[in-house]
Amino acid sequence: MTDFRELQEEILRLKDKRRAVILAHNYQRDDVQDIADFVGDSLELSRTASELKCDVIVFCGVNFMAESASILSPEKTVLWPVKDAICPMAGMITVDRPRRLWKTFPGYDRKAEYSFPEAFTLRDMKAKYPGVPVVTYVNTTADVKAESDVCCTSANGVKVVESLDADRAICVPDRNLARWIARNTEKEIIYWDGFCHVHDKVTAEDVVTARKEHPDAVFIAHPECRLEILETADHVTSTSGMLRYAKASDAREFIIGTEIGLLYRLRKENPDKLFYPIRKDMICPNMKRITLQSVARSLKEMTYEVKVAEDIRIPAKRALDRMLAIK
Ligand code: 13P
Ligand code: SF4
Repeated sequence: MTDFRELQEEILRLKDKRRAVILAHNYQRDDVQDIADFVGDSLELSRTASELKCDVIVFCGVNFMAESASILSPEKTVLWPVKDAICPMAGMITVDRPRRLWKTFPGYDRKAEYSFPEAFTLRDMKAKYPGVPVVTYVNTTADVKAESDVCCTSANGVKVVESLDADRAICVPDRNLARWIARNTEKEIIYWDGFCHVHDKVTAEDVVTARKEHPDAVFIAHPECRLEILETADHVTSTSGMLRYAKASDAREFIIGTEIGLLYRLRKENPDKLFYPIRKDMICPNMKRITLQSVARSLKEMTYEVKVAEDIRIPAKRALDRMLAIK
């Protein structure tokens, strides 16, 4: 316990010394969330990163999140406590190189279904559909954002597509989010075949079992789940959307269809309500790589700095700014 307190105190002391702000995603470990100045979903964290007044941002999240903070705030030093905390979905699309196809994941026994070969790239997709705007989920690398017209998050995908002056849009890389957007717009959606291995594994059987076990619970799902799951949900929204929904709802019990890290805030902010994960194994191992120790080391050694080359950063920022301008 003393060690834990000492670590917390060290982080606070170093944070002051560096004029640093700690941002953490809703999936971070409980103790990392506790030490953070701001905890949120991808959209909130992007907005916050663009508005902060500080010298250093310590980003507790996966690669694309720290990169987005650096794209939006190039004058600040953006630190990422663990170098290999990557989002596999972000590796499923590339601009012009072969992409990484994850055939299987540890603990994930459904074969990934890819529609395009490994060598098929975003540029190939753009050549196939010339002039069709590209809407890129923020779960992508900076160079993919730089090739895109506008970004979106799980919180605003439908709004972003609706804001376009076009009848069609290419939505990359998450096929599940793209299908959810297609279901909620009149526009034609052309989608990529990427997916999140944490959300994609939820099955219709999981929903039936959870509903049977908790007949009075409301089922809230993240749009990275498969469409067949989303169609059975009572509400579909981003991680922070789930927090808002649960707080405002009269219901007392909720089945949560997202990574289990969100349960910490749900329970903390709603002590009178009950939350059940749709599957107990919905764990994003990369999000959990960041620990209090790595945050302290990051502040002490100023590691690992995330920087994006200007020729990528500027067009990537344009795509992020377009998204942030949509209220
Ligand atoms: P949110 O933007 O909803 O927090 O989602 C980010 C993410 O990576 C979901 O897996
Ligand atoms: Fe990526 Fe899925 Fe982890 Fe989110 S939960 S960071 S989409 S792997």
